[in-house]
Amino acid sequence: MKNIYLDYAATTPTDPRVVEAMLPCFTEVYGNPSSLHAFGQTAKHRVEEARQTVASFIGATPEEIVFTSGGTESNNAVIKGIAGARRDKGNHIITSRIEHHAILEPCHFLEKQGFDVTYVPVDEYGLIDPTHVEKAITDKTILISIMHANNEIGAVQPIDEIGRIARGKGVYFHTDAVQTFGHLPINVNELNVDLLSASGHKLYGPKGVGILYVRKGVRMLPFIQGGGQEKGRRASTYNVPGIVGFGKAVELAKVEMENEMVHLAALRDKLIKGILAKIAHSQLNGHPVRRLPNNVNVSIAYVEGESMLLNLDIAGIACSTGSACSSASLEPSHVLAAIGLPHELMHGSLRFTLGRPTSEEDIDRVLQVLPAIVEKLRSMSPLYKKEVKS
Ligand SMILES: Cc1ncc(COP(=O)(O)O)c(C=O)c1O
Repeated sequence: MKNIYLDYAATTPTDPRVVEAMLPCFTEVYGNPSSLHAFGQTAKHRVEEARQTVASFIGATPEEIVFTSGGTESNNAVIKGIAGARRDKGNHIITSRIEHHAILEPCHFLEKQGFDVTYVPVDEYGLIDPTHVEKAITDKTILISIMHANNEIGAVQPIDEIGRIARGKGVYFHTDAVQTFGHLPINVNELNVDLLSASGHKLYGPKGVGILYVRKGVRMLPFIQGGGQEKGRRASTYNVPGIVGFGKAVELAKVEMENEMVHLAALRDKLIKGILAKIAHSQLNGHPVRRLPNNVNVSIAYVEGESMLLNLDIAGIACSTGSACSSASLEPSHVLAAIGLPHELMHGSLRFTLGRPTSEEDIDRVLQVLPAIVEKLRSMSPLYKKEVKS
């Protein structure tokens, strides 16, 4: 039986059409784009084509796109780069409790350097109330960073509204769009954002490449200093294959995203409905409607998420508990804690994230296999026997 991959939020396979576009950049178009000779200029042309594709995809200009090594670098560059450049204006940053660690850790770092960070709460669906952001703004606030959609529970935030508030107060606004870029429509002007992060390996592009959109006029420190590439913002020799691959992934998303959203949302809803109907004491985490089209996050009481995950893995089905980066530790997810889940439901969570190749048969197989796994695990649980059976 074929293995089923349902962990697309952790990473996606590189689309073969992307690989095909990248391959010549290893062996034929290998010049350094900073070199003046024809080899270099041919490579530079490919980089600039990709930049143009990315810019037009989100309503930006090519000069506003900086290529990076991925979402983590883009997020670090924003938090530290804005803090460093605007220290004279203030030392206050606003973010949320459910951000990815690539935002939270740089914020913790800055707190140790004397910055103040406000972590706005979320409601039981994982949604941020824009008025909480508005109330947190002070005359020392220099940056607001709120993720577009959450990687664990898929909650899609009211970014345009928060952006309007930020703009009204003259505060820079960043969104981590790693989970939405190439999956939901994004226009930086409609979203009212000044900075936006995205990552290649979440949209069927290669790993190790990402972008940061920086609105014209935004003042920030260079991300990496060195040879002056990317107009001095981000030094290091251009990752030509990665950048070309990113551009191709965006080109494909432009054409396929809309149908994909509809297809995945239908499969997502089938999986959610099926799990809730077939497994007693299960619940959906995140918002029923304001959620990523490919995200299913459920809590199943009286069973450990890790036990379900390993049993599913044995059955050839790959999913995750919490986020992939933190699931190696057994710390409960900060996102599930922020939506107020009790301890036992935090530990019984599973995340299935669907992707381009996911089929209805894949979903049927999960719905056939998972209830049996839960039943088996519950039959070994003294707590289940005590609380439910008796
Ligand atoms: C919301 C979010 N931000 C940032 C990242 C980090 O991106 P990258 O793996 O490209 O460094 C991830 C990766 O899971 C993510 O989901």
